[in-house]
Amino acid sequence: MVKRVTVACLLISMTLLYCLSTLRINFSPPELPVPLSCAPQPGQHNTQSSTNGRQQDNNICVPKVDLMFMKTHKTGSSTFINILFRFGEKHKLKFAFPSSRNDFFYPSPFQHTYVQGFKSGMCFNVICNHMRFDASEVAKVMPRDTFYITILRDPAELFESSFHYFRHVVPLTWRIPGEDKMSEFLRDPKLYFSPNGINSFYLKNLLFFDFGQDNTLDPDDPRVEESIRLIGERFHSFILMEHFEESLILLKDTLCWEMDDILFFKLNSRKESTVSKMSPELRAKALQWNGVDWKLYKHFNLTLWEKVEAYGRERMAKDVAELRRRNAEMVEICIEGGHSVAAGNIHEDAMQPWQPIGEKSIMGYNLNKNIDKAYEQLCRKMLTQEIQYLTDLGANLWLTKLLGHVRNIINW
Ligand SMILES: *[C@@H]1O[C@H](CO)[C@@H](O)[C@H](O)[C@H]1NC(C)=O
Repeated sequence: MVKRVTVACLLISMTLLYCLSTLRINFSPPELPVPLSCAPQPGQHNTQSSTNGRQQDNNICVPKVDLMFMKTHKTGSSTFINILFRFGEKHKLKFAFPSSRNDFFYPSPFQHTYVQGFKSGMCFNVICNHMRFDASEVAKVMPRDTFYITILRDPAELFESSFHYFRHVVPLTWRIPGEDKMSEFLRDPKLYFSPNGINSFYLKNLLFFDFGQDNTLDPDDPRVEESIRLIGERFHSFILMEHFEESLILLKDTLCWEMDDILFFKLNSRKESTVSKMSPELRAKALQWNGVDWKLYKHFNLTLWEKVEAYGRERMAKDVAELRRRNAEMVEICIEGGHSVAAGNIHEDAMQPWQPIGEKSIMGYNLNKNIDKAYEQLCRKMLTQEIQYLTDLGANLWLTKLLGHVRNIINW
C-alpha cells in the first residue's frame, strides 16, 4: 500500500515536472545577428555561398551540411533522424540540441532560446529534434542557406498511429466508451473533441499543428491554402513516409550525398497486432476529420511525383532497387535473425526504443554477434535508438532519462 502511494506520487510529480518544463520563463533575448553560415570544416567543404549541394565546384559535388529537419510526429521521422545523426557525425557537424529533454519543449512554439547553450552569433549546422515549428525563430539559429527538410504521412494512418500512441495523455479520450475507442471517436468526433482539451492536437491535423499552424481550421478556409503555400516556400524537401525510398533518393541527389548516407533500418515500428487495419469507411472518416492535413499531404504528394518525373522514372526505379538491395544486405549483416523483436527480447539498452505510456508495443532489434569489423560501427549506429544517439552526440537529456528510469522502475 505504502509502496503504491509512493510510486503514484513519484509518477505524478515526474509527469508534472515534465509538463511544467514547457513553461519556461522567457528572459528577453539579446538582439541577434542572423548567422550567415557555419565555419566550414578545414579542407572539407565550403558552404559559404552554395545554396544547393549540387553546385559543382571543380567537378566536385559538395555535400550540403546546413540542415533543418522538421521532425513531425508518428511519421517515421525516427528512421530519418538516424540518417541525419550518422551524416552529422561523419562530417563533424554542430547540432542545435534542446536542453534537458529530447524535444524543444513541444508543444510550445519553438523559440531560439530553447537551444542548449545558445549564445548570440552562434552557428549550428543541424537542428532536428521535435518542435512546434516557427520559421522566424528557427531562422535565428540556423545559417541563412539552410536546407529545410520535413516528413509527411498519409493522415488517416497518422491519425490511427497518433490515437494509439498518445490517447492516454489526451484526457478527452478517457470517457470514450467501448473497446474500439478510435472507431467510436470517428463515429462522431464532435461529440468527444474539444479544441481546448489538453493535448487535443494529437487527434486533429497533427501535421498542421506541428508546422505551427491552426489545426482546427475548416479545410475550405482560405487560410489553409495560404499556410500550405508558406510551408511550401520554407521547406525544400518533403519526404513522404509512403514513398520513403524515392524521397531519400531525391534528397541524396539534391544534397549531393552518397548511397551509404541514406541506408536505413525501419526504427520504432509497432507490433503488427497492435495496428488496427482501417476499413475504407473508417479511413474516409479519418481523412474527413483530418481534412486540413489531407489537403497538405495531397499537395506535397503531387510535388514529389513531379520531382520524380524530372529525375526520370526509370532512373528512380533503378536507384530505389539499389537502395533496397543495399538495405537488405545490411539487414543480413547487422540484425540478429534478420527481423525486429519485442521490447522484452532486446538485449542492449542502447537499442531499446522509447515506448508509449502504459504498454510496450514498439519493436526493436538485436545486433548480430560476430559482425565483420568493417561493418560493426555502421551496424551499431544504424540500430542505436534516438535518445542514446542524442546522448552520444553530446545532448543533455536528464529530464527525459529520469522519466525513462522512473517508468522502468515502476514498469509503466
Ligand atoms: C500520390 O501521387 C501518386 C502519383 O501521382 C498517385 O498515384 C497517388 O494516388 C497519390 N496519393 C495520394 C494519396 O494522393
